[in-house]
Amino acid sequence: MDLSINERLVLRSLDLKEVTAKELAAAAGLKPEAAVQGAAMLAEKGLAALRDEVEAEYVLTEEGRKYVAEGLPERVIHDALPADGITLNELKKQFPPATVNIAMGWLRQKGWAKFEKKDGDMLLAPQKAEASADETILAAISKGEPQKGFDAKVIKDLIKRNLIELRETKQKFVKITDAGLAVKQAGIEITEEIAQLTPEMIATGSWQGKSFRKFDVSIPVQTEYGGRKHILRMGMDAVKRTLIEMGFKEMEGPMVDAEFYVNDLLFMPQDHPARTHWDQFNLKEPKYIHHLPPDLVKRVKEVHLNGGKSGSLGWNYEWDETIARKLVLRGHTTSLTARYLARHAKPPQKYFSVSQVFRNDTIDITHLLEFCQIEGWIMDDNLSMKDLMGTFKEFYSRMGITVLKFKPTYNPYTEPSLEIYGRHPKTNRWIEVGNSGMFREEMMEPYGINSTVVAWGLALERLMMINYGYTDIRDLHGPLCDINFLRSVPVVWQQ
Ligand code: PHE
Repeated sequence: MDLSINERLVLRSLDLKEVTAKELAAAAGLKPEAAVQGAAMLAEKGLAALRDEVEAEYVLTEEGRKYVAEGLPERVIHDALPADGITLNELKKQFPPATVNIAMGWLRQKGWAKFEKKDGDMLLAPQKAEASADETILAAISKGEPQKGFDAKVIKDLIKRNLIELRETKQKFVKITDAGLAVKQAGIEITEEIAQLTPEMIATGSWQGKSFRKFDVSIPVQTEYGGRKHILRMGMDAVKRTLIEMGFKEMEGPMVDAEFYVNDLLFMPQDHPARTHWDQFNLKEPKYIHHLPPDLVKRVKEVHLNGGKSGSLGWNYEWDETIARKLVLRGHTTSLTARYLARHAKPPQKYFSVSQVFRNDTIDITHLLEFCQIEGWIMDDNLSMKDLMGTFKEFYSRMGITVLKFKPTYNPYTEPSLEIYGRHPKTNRWIEVGNSGMFREEMMEPYGINSTVVAWGLALERLMMINYGYTDIRDLHGPLCDINFLRSVPVVWQQ
């Protein structure tokens, strides 16, 4: 029979007595995976028999391990009780509250201490405390002793205390079959096999006359997970690549920024609801930015008060520079646009950014406190809303999304303003993927910009929900994200 070297090694070590995969690997001189694989191949030929068995055993949790090392809290406290007793208040000064709290109930239950009310306090006196059943079991588990005869009630308590847990492991058992025995008895020759052909072997011809290892690529092997890009990073990269292909340059800037750039330059009045702590995160320390450009500050103040030279009446209030200097976690990357407009006031310009923003939202299936915004703006003479819509059509179709809907909306800094909707492939619902518009004159005036600027902020996670069909944004990032899902996402951006 045509057997590979591994199959031969395995078959030679097998017997009618069942062995574990580990024992087999040791006997055959192979790695466990190779031994199991060899056994599986033999089983397919009817020469070996494989069997899975689920083994359940109790293991210590992290807390359990800690207590095995230091003693259960009730043991620690008991051993520290002076013979003539100690008050609860005194005890609380000597031990961490968690230790005292846990110990109290168990000291009482195990009868390890006597409790007596005294002057509004409680006096604890030590009683005899022999090793309790739970301590014995913890010790046995930690030493790897056979797990037999454990009291079910004590086990239940230990699980409830989160000191042990049941772990199930799959064990493979292998033995030879009669057919296998016949082959083995006829004699198994172990000849050298070439598993990997090298350039040297070909050059020197040393491969000639040798036998080659056969590979059965249909046999399932253990999956190896290497380091890889997070799905969100993949999405960010795909978006960046696309926007660069469309002729945009990338903006960079701080995640913590002054309200001046986040709000004031965008003609957002200082009493706007979005500027309260309900919406944005303020910094405790440092509280204020050191420097703002004085000229721009002066013109923003004017525009907010009376519209400056924009032709508008402004918001008609006394603008306060202290508020503008407040540091916040940026709630949108339009703060970057506000910064870049000051540096690039001459058309034509096309800029984008793909980075984190932070909002004090309520977390649900489409909202997180943090998400990734795709910001962008185009500055040119005589741009219209058609240019804006055309840009979205182009961008989203390059990202694999061809059905879009637009809806008029309101922004303090754009007029007209437009929301963009995409259709979720699974729920068929329209979800908002972004917000956009043409910057108002009041916003352009402090910069001295005369040409038109169209701009937008799009949500990367929403785009990815449409691309991949996820229904919950928390599938993509955050603590609820499934590690197995992250490992198995295709490595190529899915359009
Ligand atoms: N800043 C807006 C948001 O976060 C997006 C936007 C940017 C709208 C630029 C108009 C212009 O929703």
